[in-house]
Amino acid sequence: MTKFAKIYWMKDLSAYKNAFSKLETPFYFYDTELLKRTVAEVVRCSQKYDIDVHYAVKANVEARLLQIISAAGLGADAVSGNEVSWAVECGFPKNRVVFAGVGKTDKEIRQSLGIEAFNVESLQELEVIDQIAGAQGMVANVSLRINPGVDAHTHKFITTGLEANKFGLVPEEFAPAAELLGRLKNVRFVGLHFHIGSQITDVQDVYAQECVRATEVVKAFEDKGLAVEHIDLGGGLGVDYDNPDRNPVPDFDLWMRTIAENLTRRPGVKVLVEPGRSLVAECGSLITKVLYIKPRTARTFVVVDAGMNNLVRPALYGAYHRIDNISSNAPEAVYDIVGPVCESSDVWGSDRRLPASSRGDLLAIRSAGAYGSVMSSTYNLRDKAPAYFSEDFEV
Ligand code: LLP
Repeated sequence: MTKFAKIYWMKDLSAYKNAFSKLETPFYFYDTELLKRTVAEVVRCSQKYDIDVHYAVKANVEARLLQIISAAGLGADAVSGNEVSWAVECGFPKNRVVFAGVGKTDKEIRQSLGIEAFNVESLQELEVIDQIAGAQGMVANVSLRINPGVDAHTHKFITTGLEANKFGLVPEEFAPAAELLGRLKNVRFVGLHFHIGSQITDVQDVYAQECVRATEVVKAFEDKGLAVEHIDLGGGLGVDYDNPDRNPVPDFDLWMRTIAENLTRRPGVKVLVEPGRSLVAECGSLITKVLYIKPRTARTFVVVDAGMNNLVRPALYGAYHRIDNISSNAPEAVYDIVGPVCESSDVWGSDRRLPASSRGDLLAIRSAGAYGSVMSSTYNLRDKAPAYFSEDFEV
């Protein structure tokens, strides 16, 4: 791995501008010191509130980041057979991996036997897991994913806990699920799983509702004679896209305190959470170069070399990412910052105030560590952006 001039960790990315200017753009830059601080804080809260943390691998699959997270003792939450295998390869013990998803294939189920729990999303899936485990002479741990009917107050594409969403079991399915579990021989019921959505900022209100609902559902299953040993509340804690420097580490304490105060659990019952975004979003930036300035009467376009193929969140969800010019200290001007892809939705931000920018300046598209690189494509036959890590930059 190439070594660059070492810069001690600081939030201001302009400190890296000389090192960055030697690299081909666009690229992802990960501040591994910030990731380590973030992971240390989640571990502190996990111990304080006795809540087991599983990193949602889907948010970012860079091996270097996964190794940092697994080394801290976290488990993993996967949504495909490949994510299960990759998590294990990056240091997560197989028996600390949970696996959710409405469409698990037979192959994915077979290769994942031995994990901590399959988060089962339908009655038919329960029967299929039973058959596949039986054929391998194994017993699979299963947790039922419940659709709790709780509104996460977030973007509709990342809301998952409403009846209209495809995820989990609804109340009419609880009795047949309990009956099936009593009959099937190759699955062992461990507990229940919930996940209501992502980028949740209304933390106290939304998670309190989720916990109240989870407490009711746990009781409903225990009344049917099924002991719930494991309650998985999913992920979803939001990050501060507006002020990544002010709040680089999300408020895990508030999240877990809300859970501890609103979920009723018997002694010995394990409570899990599955944060993805809140662990990795803020440590990542997409670094891009200004190619052209196009002044028009009503607006000035800044055309950069990163496009929606590198980070699709603005085009897909209308998501806001802060943009900093790390090369210029000039007085500010107002710009529309756009990418090179042949789609009018390839826009990074409209009416953004930035230091006066010129060709060759480097811009940092912030909070890009979660759902950035993993959702990228080669649309327009463009290259995927490589990754660099702060710990490889030395004096
Ligand atoms: N657990 C399950 C079952 C999930 O489906 C997800 C995310 C998580 C945990 C982690 O949620 P987080 O803590 O990261 O919010 N591409 C979208 C986000 C999709 C989230 C999908 N599920 C975005 O860019 O905003």
